[in-house]
Amino acid sequence: MAYRSLVLGAFASTSLAASVVTPRDPVPPGFVAAPYYPAPHGGWIASWEEAYSKAEALVSQMTLAEKTNITSGIGIFMGNTGSAERLGFPRMCLQDSALGVSSADNVTAFPAGITTGATFDKKLIYARGVAIGEEHRGKGTNVYLGPSVGPLGRKPLGGRNWEGFGSDPVLQAKAAALTIKGVQEQGIIATIKHLIGNEQEMYRMYNPFQPGYSANIDDRTLHELYLWPFAEAVHVGVGSAMTAYNAVNGSACSQHSYLINGLLKDELGFQGFVMSDWLSHISGVDSALAGLDMNMPGDTNIPLFGFSNWHYELSRSVLNGSVPLDRLNDMVTRIVATWYKFGQDKDHPRPNFSSNTRDRDGLLYPAALFSPKGQVNWFVNVQADHYLIAREVAQDAITLLKNNGSFLPLATSQSLHVFGTAAQVNPDGPNACMNRACNKGTLGMGWGSGVADYPYLDDPITAIRKRVPDVKFFNTDGFPWFHPTPSPDDVAIVFITSDAGENSFTVEGNNGDRNSAKLAAWHNGDELVRKTAEKYSSVIVVAQTVGPLDLESWIDNPRVKGVLFQHLPGQEAGESLANILFGDVSPSGHLPYSITKRANDFPDSIANLRGFAFGQVQDTFSEGLYIDYRWLNKQKTKPRFAFGHGLSYTNFSFDATIESVTRLSLVPPARAPKGSTPVYSTEIPPASEAYWPSGFNRIWRYLYSWLNKNDADKAYAVGIAGVKKYNYPAGYSTVQKPGPAAGGGEGGNPALWDVAFRVPVTVKNTGTEFSGRASVQAYIQYPEGIPYDTPIVQLRDFEKTQVLAPGETETVTIELTRRDLSVWDTELQNWVVPGFDGKRYTVWIGDASDRLFTACYTDTGICEGGKVPPV
Ligand code: NOJ
Repeated sequence: MAYRSLVLGAFASTSLAASVVTPRDPVPPGFVAAPYYPAPHGGWIASWEEAYSKAEALVSQMTLAEKTNITSGIGIFMGNTGSAERLGFPRMCLQDSALGVSSADNVTAFPAGITTGATFDKKLIYARGVAIGEEHRGKGTNVYLGPSVGPLGRKPLGGRNWEGFGSDPVLQAKAAALTIKGVQEQGIIATIKHLIGNEQEMYRMYNPFQPGYSANIDDRTLHELYLWPFAEAVHVGVGSAMTAYNAVNGSACSQHSYLINGLLKDELGFQGFVMSDWLSHISGVDSALAGLDMNMPGDTNIPLFGFSNWHYELSRSVLNGSVPLDRLNDMVTRIVATWYKFGQDKDHPRPNFSSNTRDRDGLLYPAALFSPKGQVNWFVNVQADHYLIAREVAQDAITLLKNNGSFLPLATSQSLHVFGTAAQVNPDGPNACMNRACNKGTLGMGWGSGVADYPYLDDPITAIRKRVPDVKFFNTDGFPWFHPTPSPDDVAIVFITSDAGENSFTVEGNNGDRNSAKLAAWHNGDELVRKTAEKYSSVIVVAQTVGPLDLESWIDNPRVKGVLFQHLPGQEAGESLANILFGDVSPSGHLPYSITKRANDFPDSIANLRGFAFGQVQDTFSEGLYIDYRWLNKQKTKPRFAFGHGLSYTNFSFDATIESVTRLSLVPPARAPKGSTPVYSTEIPPASEAYWPSGFNRIWRYLYSWLNKNDADKAYAVGIAGVKKYNYPAGYSTVQKPGPAAGGGEGGNPALWDVAFRVPVTVKNTGTEFSGRASVQAYIQYPEGIPYDTPIVQLRDFEKTQVLAPGETETVTIELTRRDLSVWDTELQNWVVPGFDGKRYTVWIGDASDRLFTACYTDTGICEGGKVPPV
């Protein structure tokens, strides 16, 4: 089946667009990808006005070929986007990864997103964002390809959950927004990715024989879960967005008019530019009409043949009238405006490194058959003192799951025996495996594009040795055959791991996602724990892991005294852990996902990956809003450790009050009309604007936007005569829409961000021995009797105290916005506050999704301690 008919040729009706009804046969009924045209113009939001007017002035001087050149990459391994050098618009450098600067030397390997989420610490998340932004700037990149909030973390086996912040839309949203703020304040454009539904790696990509899988998501679930973090990213002004590889409701994300035009650009009011994920671009005209603004890395989905769906094809499509010039102008204006918005027209450094080699000299066009050579690396050190932030994140993410009899912290006088190869850095070096696609030694990050090179890896055994020089280290994952009987005072520390990544690499049989059996620790880690516990009466388990593990075969063993999750600590895996193990610092990390007792405590749609199917693989989100703790609560299933769980060496008391700030109406007030946007001529430009320059020395596989004179003239003749009309998708229109009621500002209707309630929470360290930091988590419970099914409790905000000495107090403030109290009404196509008329919402305060002990009622303004939510 041709892609076009598969992905765009058919639409079913919804209340959004009750136009053409043509079911897409493989997608289950009820999941629709309604047409949404045209692509909304950018520039109508006041805070972008200046950038857009500068962009308008520049774009109006561009030729057709200059315009099409900057909307595409110049080919895989070649570099980045095309330029309009004549007018001073450079090639833009777009660089991974979500946890730092990838494929470069002299950078910091920050803790991964999942680790950052586990801190539940807004200040640290922001500080990491600032540091990542500084490093990108120092290396001369324009666009940081992060943060990642899709996958959201719906499937515990999902390969790339660790790049994001945890299995909850609010945790993802707040962490992404703070990261974006930190990065963009350094003049680097951040990219929110991947839009949307990329919850497993298997079958994610389109290829000539099979489409990528279809994530089938209903309208309410899309709004309340998966789109939620994107809305927050847009609200803080994110400059770019990346579409996902997969399809949603049958339509490929890179050419999904409802997702890009409808949701992202109109409802969320996104003003930046939208790029495709690498090699996911499968159509020329259709993707342009659907709102895509940039094709990366420029090639078709089979790269390295010098073919592109855009570049010269986009020039042709504009000349022959298939893509309205108006659309191309908007694409280009969005890109140029974003560049101005972040001040990249002024003193922005040019890239000083190559992703293709760490040598000083290398190929200038690495994908070309014959490429000139030159200096490509200047070895600029951008690390500054970022190791301090990296270490603090790694440390404050460490999550103490179990601490029987307050066994931890350890004393340095204790006799320690360490087991497990993960205690020590990979003996071949921390960067021995390309894109970290192996699990050998300390596991500081997963694998794939979301990694960075380690400048060094401070491993746990080195840090432990510094404190306990005669520690015994058994560098093995199997319990030693001949092991002397330990003395009762010997303490064993066992390191276990679990890895995952992008499906461009397969590691130990895991094709990106973890294998279904792989919630077990890798390398027989669970057996190592069990065997060690047979010999030692005191065992501490330390896990370096991309996500939840099945702990059941040993967690109840009384000899396993303590369990710590380091998550993926990045380069600072050693001191950060030792500080916690030996009690210099109390643990304050909290789980960014739940750990269940059995994999099938989740429904099949969550617990398992979608395997092979003829045609398009269908991944139907039939659990709706009920992922992670939402599902477990609904089923009354007790997890082993709930989302948000994390112990400290000390104890805290929480005392809350609640203040009403803004009175809410049922729906947000009417939005303001859109402001004006740049205006250009819509006449088809002369064919000569796309001719090859004479005598140009063409490099094979480099992608260009010029056409042969004959081709350009032919296309122009067709366009001017208007003879051959493109077979436009159903619902196609060129008339700009006023935008939906749910829109009106960046992130949606501005009133969604009004603070409705404020909850100051006074936290006291009630312990006597240890200082520590408390996590304050606020979960909302909707009023009874409302006509919407809602999860019992849902995280809505969180704060973290500073270090509190015994007896010390601090007041942190939780804020709840209109959006936090709303549900997405699929009929009204708007956010509705079901309890606007004084019904009782309960705001639960605690330090885990299953440890909520203070209830604040919005109707009475009273908070009561000692309460237990109905879960
Ligand atoms: C594919 C990944 O999905 C995306 O996250 C990354 O930014 C690009 N490749 C570029 O490496």
